[in-house]
Amino acid sequence: MEVIIVEQPGDVAVHAADAIEDLATSHPAPVLGLATGSTPRATYEETGRRIAAGRMTLARARAFMLDEYVGLPPHHPQSYRSVIDAIFTTKVDIDPANVAGPDGNASDVLAACAAYERAIAEAGGIDLQILGIGGDGHIAFNEPGSSLASATRIKTLIRATRQDNARFFEGVLDAVPSHCLTQGVATILRARHIVLLALGEPKAEAVRHAVEGPVSAMCPASALQLHPHVTVILDEGAASRLEMAAYYREVWENKPPWQRL
Ligand code: F6R
Repeated sequence: MEVIIVEQPGDVAVHAADAIEDLATSHPAPVLGLATGSTPRATYEETGRRIAAGRMTLARARAFMLDEYVGLPPHHPQSYRSVIDAIFTTKVDIDPANVAGPDGNASDVLAACAAYERAIAEAGGIDLQILGIGGDGHIAFNEPGSSLASATRIKTLIRATRQDNARFFEGVLDAVPSHCLTQGVATILRARHIVLLALGEPKAEAVRHAVEGPVSAMCPASALQLHPHVTVILDEGAASRLEMAAYYREVWENKPPWQRL
């Protein structure tokens, strides 16, 4: 794992957008994996600015969302489809028809999950997966206890995650759906490059478990240790419990120019 610790929280987005730009300028038709939530917003905005400045384009890109609530109408403002439209699709030049997500309203959930796995595989797999992390160590909606070999499936959200997300539902816990469809841990691990972003102290403990803890289903993000190309981009708060922080800084500061993100 490459761990980048930045002084200014805004620089997390700059480094993450660098990874997207590197891919977009070197690949004729890149496939992106998109996290929802608050953390990647600034990255998507920065990507949009670079597109507007003519530095890159996502016109030929495809994108796959990580997860979706079950039972929210697609146009509900808090469906992950609506959120991705608001924070990503409308900020960049991707064709909206090329942004896919799990179907949280499918009548046959098992078939919908299998179809989503197939769609990712048929697109050639994900080149670059952007991830956030939950305070409990979840990635996508793989809550603690999730199989590290899991594929896209339906999951029950734990109460703490619903409480975290109630801020998007006017603070009303009961308004937060109890179930979701989510890419599995194994689905995520098939991406060729994974960029995990975390901001702020509330994420510090989960980041410590993910980066330095044992690989365990109790912290699904720790499965990223098994992937050969993961970049973790943290602000000071999110990095504040890392035992090896000084070493990660030293490695990053002395990184030879030919060694890219
Ligand atoms: C979003 C997702 C979640 C979030 C995580 C962090 O698609 O799958 O795993 O990345 O809950 O959320 P924020 O960024 O809002 O702190």
